[in-house]
Amino acid sequence: MFSALPGTAPAYLPGTPPTSLPGVASGLVPGAQFPSNIAPPGSPLVSPAGFGPSVPGTPIPQGQIPGANVLPASPTQLPSLANRAPALLPHAVAGNGVPDTVFSVAPAFEPRSGGTVLGVPQQLGAPASPQTAASPFYFLNNSYGHPTAGASDGFAVHDPFAGLAAPAAQPALPPSPPSAPAGRDAQFYFVDAVRLPSGFVTPAKPDPRGPDAVPLAGSGQHPPFDVNAVRRDFPILQERVNGKQLVWFDNAATTHKPQSVIDRIAYFYEHENSNIHRAAHELAARATDAYEGARERVRKFINAPEVEEVIFVRGTTEAINLVAKSWGGQHVGEGDEIIVSNLEHHANIVPWQQLAAAKGAKLRVIPVDDSGQVLLDEYRKLLNDRTKIVTVTQVSNALGTVVPVKEIVELAHRAGAKALVDGAQSVSHMRVDVQDIGADFFVFSGHKVFGPTGIGVVWGKREVLEDMPPWQGGGNMIADVTFEKTVFQPIPNKFEAGTGNIADAVGLGAAIDYVNKVGIENIARYEHDLLVYGMQQLGAIPGVRLIGTAADKASVMSFVLDGYTTEEVGHALNDEGIAVRTGHHCAQPILRRFGVETTVRPSLAFYNTFDEVDRLVTVVRRLAGQRRAG
Ligand code: ALA
Repeated sequence: MFSALPGTAPAYLPGTPPTSLPGVASGLVPGAQFPSNIAPPGSPLVSPAGFGPSVPGTPIPQGQIPGANVLPASPTQLPSLANRAPALLPHAVAGNGVPDTVFSVAPAFEPRSGGTVLGVPQQLGAPASPQTAASPFYFLNNSYGHPTAGASDGFAVHDPFAGLAAPAAQPALPPSPPSAPAGRDAQFYFVDAVRLPSGFVTPAKPDPRGPDAVPLAGSGQHPPFDVNAVRRDFPILQERVNGKQLVWFDNAATTHKPQSVIDRIAYFYEHENSNIHRAAHELAARATDAYEGARERVRKFINAPEVEEVIFVRGTTEAINLVAKSWGGQHVGEGDEIIVSNLEHHANIVPWQQLAAAKGAKLRVIPVDDSGQVLLDEYRKLLNDRTKIVTVTQVSNALGTVVPVKEIVELAHRAGAKALVDGAQSVSHMRVDVQDIGADFFVFSGHKVFGPTGIGVVWGKREVLEDMPPWQGGGNMIADVTFEKTVFQPIPNKFEAGTGNIADAVGLGAAIDYVNKVGIENIARYEHDLLVYGMQQLGAIPGVRLIGTAADKASVMSFVLDGYTTEEVGHALNDEGIAVRTGHHCAQPILRRFGVETTVRPSLAFYNTFDEVDRLVTVVRRLAGQRRAG
């Protein structure tokens, strides 16, 4: 069914590394200098449409929000603190009727009552310039983006480049892709279908017109997607490692950040930085709105019913600990049972084990079959009236198995148990709809979905969260404190004690905007093709054993190679500039299920390419050949 790729040099791998670094022009955004990723003029890596408006060193006009849609300002709209009524926001009102001192933007700008672009008052944006009007698009038809990414709630569709001025000197355009329309459209970078290697057919979705067929407009077929275009948004992908262009196949550990996320965080510190929910000044209002705007973006991204159900935490690990300590501490007792699957990351094992040990409860484990998929019949047998919570990953970080979480949640609920879904490895690869999944909790990390580290999310059903005690105490989460007692804020603040990671929450909002712009369905489709190809190529190498071959998989291609330690394979790949994780992947139980302690784990994201997979396969094949010859 498959055939090998032709050994063609990819157009997006530059033959010449950058030879000189640009100087730092005055008035540039200091945090946006990435000298090593700037290709020389004329390089195929540089185009006005690609690095264009977000090219490092591009000045960002004051008051213009990177990545946010810029709406025309009208003098009557311009807010000043003096013009604003002090608004008592839900997150700032004390339970005893005594508010913390809060001046915030007028209700129209309060994200929970309408919101604005990235939570920043529209008026802070500058009028659209001719340059921003010509911002690039990834697709001919933007309707392929997030179906709910419209501006209906006041959060406009994000364009990673809108609002950024074009560079003063435009480098030469790269050659247009073969199917790119001529003329004006040539400045847009996209217009090309996913270019599968000739002879490669995606088994699950063959196109009757052949693998290279361009989707027909209005046909409902997948939209054009140009990996080269999205790659230009990620400056680190131009990095060189050991003299080779970096290949980042460690996406399950962390993902890289598009320029729009980097710029948004820099903008926050340059123009908005303040603590939130308190203080009578303009920057507090801006920071609060930016933070709450990010919360609304998360809500939409996972289709949560209510924004107050979204709690910011450090990451998935902290999210699960919050639920185990707060909900678990309240509801799990002696003799009770907690069900996890054999696939879980240590973060979804250890907190429950600790809880079980403290309470005299039991941890029970859903086994998997030899492909790495959970055995639902065995799971059914584990459920009983002592089961308090079932907590499973949606995608295995070590194997890539996509777990049927909806079914697992439904069975848990029928047994009277709650359910938590760990979305750390799923949100960047597939659409997540928490209402459709039906779990009581859904958790994920920002840094695995092209956002910053140190920010993550617990989503929980309102009634479940409201019933839970806070797990940490301090400022921000209180409504009123006396030495006798404390009244807590309502959700989400009840669970956000102290000063949170404000800037990175805003960065996560920008990452979500970016993903919406590319379109999660486009991402899923492209990655599926890449994964099928990679698994097929790796699996064909003598001595390679793929670990995790479930029919439904995402991103991860774990393997071991006869005659080599996984570390040796990792080193050989690193020598060629290819980054993978080797080791136990914080998921020892599932690796031991397959009789191994460690694997080599390449893990894909939508900015990876078929040529990069070929580079990986070439190294592994060479190692395999050398071993056989020796
Ligand atoms: N959970 C991350 C991984 O799988 C760190 O690599």
